[in-house]
Amino acid sequence: MSRVKLVVANWKMYLSVHESSLLVNRLNKTVKVHRGVEVVLSPSYLSLQPISQEIDRRKFRLAAQDGYFIDEGAYTGAVSLSQMRDLVHYAIIGHSERRRYFHESLDEVRDKVAAAVRNGIVPILCVGETKEERAQRETKQVLHDQVVTALANLTSQDVENIVIAYEPVWAIGADQPAPPDAIAEAISWIRFQVRELYGQATEEAVRLLYGGSDEPEYVAAIMEVNGVDGLLVGRASLNYERFSDIVTGVHLAALSESKVE
Ligand code: PGA
Repeated sequence: MSRVKLVVANWKMYLSVHESSLLVNRLNKTVKVHRGVEVVLSPSYLSLQPISQEIDRRKFRLAAQDGYFIDEGAYTGAVSLSQMRDLVHYAIIGHSERRRYFHESLDEVRDKVAAAVRNGIVPILCVGETKEERAQRETKQVLHDQVVTALANLTSQDVENIVIAYEPVWAIGADQPAPPDAIAEAISWIRFQVRELYGQATEEAVRLLYGGSDEPEYVAAIMEVNGVDGLLVGRASLNYERFSDIVTGVHLAALSESKVE
């Protein structure tokens, strides 16, 4: 089953508005349009508006890195998903850095996923176990809890359109990505959860990404893992050459997959 591939650049809390513009300018020139590969940029809240005017819209869509689940009200400092609905196609929800440093609970992640869907924004739900959880052999339990809670308020039709990113915390900001067999095991477990909850058609439609130390040289091996539809890229997305090489790598993987089919 061939799903549209997806590459997401997570710029995290790097880059000023000016630096973001410079990077977009480079990416506009370097990244090619590839059929069957969607490329999404996720700058800081502050850069979303200017970047939306600067991106080559044939090549890029935008994602928020987070968003508050209440649409409006007295919540100083928060930016709601509702406020970003005309600006972004996607929103990264439940990134491990949000869970860890901002203490986002399973329920908060669930409410953010629901708020994204309610506002017509596609959530990119991040799930993944920590190093300690992996050592304790709790990976499956953790992934189960994160997936099942986050999807709790959604219909099967909603779930067909969302994106889930498997990001093992121990492979984020590391020297290399998780080994392909670990990715394969987690991805098939997540797909199994979705199938159990929503049935086979939904499981076949939902897109799953891998994130954690993605670099151009690892793309082919990761994209070969069954059920992986793309990448969520941190550090390498701050460099236009590495990021466009990653996009090219995903495109080549999509081409060879379509030949096999
Ligand atoms: P990294 O970050 O590519 O720098 O490991 C990935 C992420 O946190 O999404």
